[in-house]
Amino acid sequence: MRKRIIAGNWKMNKLPNEAKQFVANVSKKLPQSEKVEAIVCAPFPYLPALVDEAKGSNLKISAQNMHFEENGAFTGEVSPAMLQDIGVTHVIIGHSERRQYFAETDESVNKKVHAAFAHELTPIVCVGETLQQREANETNTHVEKQVSAAIEGLTEEQVAATIIAYEPIWAIGTGKTATSEQANEVCAHIRKVVAEKVSQHAADNMVIQYGGSVKPANVDELLAQSDIDGALVGGASLEADSFLQLVEAGI
Ligand code: G3P
Repeated sequence: MRKRIIAGNWKMNKLPNEAKQFVANVSKKLPQSEKVEAIVCAPFPYLPALVDEAKGSNLKISAQNMHFEENGAFTGEVSPAMLQDIGVTHVIIGHSERRQYFAETDESVNKKVHAAFAHELTPIVCVGETLQQREANETNTHVEKQVSAAIEGLTEEQVAATIIAYEPIWAIGTGKTATSEQANEVCAHIRKVVAEKVSQHAADNMVIQYGGSVKPANVDELLAQSDIDGALVGGASLEADSFLQLVEAGI
């Protein structure tokens, strides 16, 4: 039985005090349930304080990116060892905004996924098609290519432990959600690809989230689908009450 995972991706939002207050508030109110895991993906400067604030609660703290190199002359970058040392448990890799604005490629995504596992961080790997690709019927092949590249060279157990977030680019921050059937179809395709390329065990255990305009009003329908195990949420994760409602929907 796969756990449901609700992750809030704050992107480049909130000031330090707002971030701390959110985590203080949410970590106290989080439902105690084995069925759902809650993660907040925060900007780098807040990570140490938020890990501290969330201690003793079920709330996990994630980074939104990292470099794949161990250390060295990479001005402005943050290494996996730094995140591990802080006590961060997860890291988003290959978000479409990073692919679009910061030249993230399938190759760098794969290197980052390996680096994450080398430092006991769980990668949340984002994949998803543009509107143009969807209209050209290229969704499955595109997503399949991204997933295959991301998990290349991983062990079966690492693949099983990887979280994939299927985020159709046209549904991010637009208010347009993929219908739950559309979302499930792609998540099921990802699971099939993992079963064929790696193993049924890896496919059965891999958590696949949907992301793209998820909110309390549509989360139940999405989570009711056979292959959607959680959500990666942007806008609707910024308010504590709405984030808590999303987590509760996972129970
Ligand atoms: O990573 C989450 C994301 O890109 C979806 O954002 O605002 O559409 O929920 P949003």
